[in-house]
Amino acid sequence: ALPRDLEGRHVAISAGGTREPLDPVRFLGNRSSGRQGFALARVAAQRGATVTLVAAHTADLDPPAGVDLVRVGTALELREAMREAAKTADVVVMAAAVADFRPATTAEHKIKKSDDRPDPVVELTRNPDILAELVVHRFPGQLVVGFAAETGDAEAGPLEHGRAKLARKGCDLLVVNAVGDGQAFEVEHNSGWLLSAEDGGASATELPLGGKAELAALLWDAVSKKLEYVPPG
Ligand code: C5P
Repeated sequence: ALPRDLEGRHVAISAGGTREPLDPVRFLGNRSSGRQGFALARVAAQRGATVTLVAAHTADLDPPAGVDLVRVGTALELREAMREAAKTADVVVMAAAVADFRPATTAEHKIKKSDDRPDPVVELTRNPDILAELVVHRFPGQLVVGFAAETGDAEAGPLEHGRAKLARKGCDLLVVNAVGDGQAFEVEHNSGWLLSAEDGGASATELPLGGKAELAALLWDAVSKKLEYVPPG
């Protein structure tokens, strides 16, 4: 049986990839399937948590049972939904692939090709860093967890980048996933390292290659250890 160590806790999790509209029928998107975020939500619910799952675009996945599912499209919508959920969450997990940029304007009508006019150029504007904002606005005792998809082998790439990202974003825990070569994205398995702000990410806990539910269980183990000192809200 699974531990009920998240009983009485509210966790807010973002999942999937945002879609940033160019016009009523087109968008800029990414390859996130939402599988890792959905697995986190499912396992948290099984371990007794009250779960808000903020889902941007995902593959055709069955939503986990017993979670409060909020569907969003764009990064700005995801930001609003996570801000709202974070007001009462003991733990906030940003597993979504948030677009770093969005089209500066969204055309009201479908953009048409024309032989008389030059081809359009898309201007992009930066989206807010939602994880960094959630860190700034967190209340005492609230845990904030981020994800980082990094390429390269261990020390040479992902870990070094992960440690820098942990410091830059200010989150309590950072899951570093090795990506590239068919790893992590759009697949059933995941692996990487878990870094904690407690020691500046010095001691990376290896997350061995396994199902996304197994990685989720290891993350909730680490979260629940940190929550031991925080009374349920
Ligand atoms: O900087 P990078 O995109 O690699 O950071 C990844 C982490 O930051 C993930 O947890 C992702 O959900 C979050 N993120 C965010 N807002 C953005 C971009 C990424 O919250 N605009």
